Amino acid sequence: MRAAVFDSGVGGLTVVKSLLENKLFEEIIYFGDTARVPYGVKDKNTIVRYSLEALEFFKNFDVDILIVACNSVSAYALEELRANTTIPVIGVIDSGVKALENKISSKDSNILVIGTNATISSNRYALALNNLAYKNITSIATGLFVPIVEEGIYSGEILNSTMKHYFKNLQTIDAVILGCTHFPLIENEISKYLNDAVTIHSGDAIVDFLKLEYNCINKFEETNIKFFASENPDNLKNVAKIWLKGLL
Ligand code: DGL
Repeated sequence: MRAAVFDSGVGGLTVVKSLLENKLFEEIIYFGDTARVPYGVKDKNTIVRYSLEALEFFKNFDVDILIVACNSVSAYALEELRANTTIPVIGVIDSGVKALENKISSKDSNILVIGTNATISSNRYALALNNLAYKNITSIATGLFVPIVEEGIYSGEILNSTMKHYFKNLQTIDAVILGCTHFPLIENEISKYLNDAVTIHSGDAIVDFLKLEYNCINKFEETNIKFFASENPDNLKNVAKIWLKGLL
């Protein structure tokens, strides 16, 4: 099986990491729209337009499924993407919510959702969690984590001050949905800061979802992976070498 993976930039590599670790695909075509990142500060119309352009790019390849690694795109553009292709298109929100449901049984648990402004404004996570009867949901747009991670800052003073800024008025949190591609890189720090809250990681969640819903159970010895970017593809490849160390 061959997958296209789409993200606004380099962040989707955290999802690729989970896909590679689980050897789910024989080929992955990754496209990061690095010329126009960040998507998380843009409105729905722009995110949909950019996503449809990315879909046109993927039509040059023979792929069986489109995985939208970007939460902001998953929040706003899945319907439009699905209407314009015959292959399945899956995003990270449904799979993230499913993963939370598997890990957190009490509907009274305090759930925190963090993501970009676009993802949080869409309310997609909160609505899906409400539909499953979770009662205590707090959603916070934590966009500053994106440039911090892009700077290669995964711990320390700057990250701690930023967590303090966003999380200052929170009561005890049982689980946190990392609703942005970049956040798995600071997963341990966030969990620690929130008194060891359970974390939901989009990449791991999508792997479980693919196995369950799309019967992706093959283990391919090797995944042939090709990286494309709308700007500075060499930088994307360099980040991939670091974030996917030992997997390429
Ligand atoms: N990939 C985006 C997301 O998961 C984060 C970066 C951006 O704002 O484009 O929402």
